[in-house]
Amino acid sequence: MGLLEGTVALVTGIANKRSMAWGIAQAFDREGARLVLTYQHQRFRENLEELVPELGQTPALIELDVASDGSIAALGTWLAQQCADGIQCVVHSIAYAERHDLEGRFVDTSREGFLTAQNISAYSLVALSRMAAPLLAKAGGGAILTLTHLGSTRVMPNYNVMGTAKASLESAVRYLAYELGRDRIRVNAISAGPVKTLAASGVRGISQALRMTEERAPIPENITTQDVGNAAVFLASPWATHITGQILFVDSGFHILGA
Ligand SMILES: NC(=O)c1ccc[n+]([C@@H]2O[C@H](COP(=O)([O-])OP(=O)(O)OC[C@H]3O[C@@H](n4cnc5c(N)ncnc54)[C@H](O)[C@@H]3O)[C@@H](O)[C@H]2O)c1
Repeated sequence: MGLLEGTVALVTGIANKRSMAWGIAQAFDREGARLVLTYQHQRFRENLEELVPELGQTPALIELDVASDGSIAALGTWLAQQCADGIQCVVHSIAYAERHDLEGRFVDTSREGFLTAQNISAYSLVALSRMAAPLLAKAGGGAILTLTHLGSTRVMPNYNVMGTAKASLESAVRYLAYELGRDRIRVNAISAGPVKTLAASGVRGISQALRMTEERAPIPENITTQDVGNAAVFLASPWATHITGQILFVDSGFHILGA
């Protein structure tokens, strides 16, 4: 019997096989969750179609662009129609900033670049949660999960505007956890160590971050998307029933270092 047997999980943010969200989808599949997967645009749908035969189920694939309120509403309508008993889990694994804002000086970030990072990487959690909350409540409660990074509270070279977006995201986790707890909806984040995904490749210095974990983390090796998937299973499962508003670090212990 899997830990997520009988649950329906919406997993956003799979771009390809290296995505954090793909590690989560694989772990959820292994634990018996029924999956609804979203993709940002057609190219990623094609990637998803190549990946899903690796799963033990044929999940629904739905388009979602979190920059569009209409797209979020359309997903909500689809879920309300297809999942009559509600859903138990939402995974938000989405971030975006302009490439030129992920290098050089943070002080040079433009207004537009700053707002883009906040909109796609942080506000989208609020909008998705608002859409999904009635569906989670209908199921008697559930879990909302997002992905963050230590760059929210510590300065990481080149992480720049994404650091401010992650700080906003983590604050949103706490405000959402506070408000949605009465409906037994838990909201948590996984703060992951570096993994060379498509999004991470946009941050100059990702190779240096990977090397730093290997050289200095208490567990001197890099994490995998499977590690993130397993932590997500725990947070989505009944074993985490009274855990909410938390940032769970999956980073080989890197965040405890003082220098
Ligand atoms: N890779 C790392 O080192 C690392 C570390 C910590 C946290 N994270 C976080 O993990 C999450 C997933 O990133 P990843 O590293 O798996 O990279 P990824 O590129 O595989 O995933 C990012 C996803 O965001 C989606 N996205 C971007 N704009 C969107 C939009 N407008 N609408 C819908 N989807 C949109 C992309 O389609 C993509 O699927 C992000 O929040 C990222 O910040 C990554």
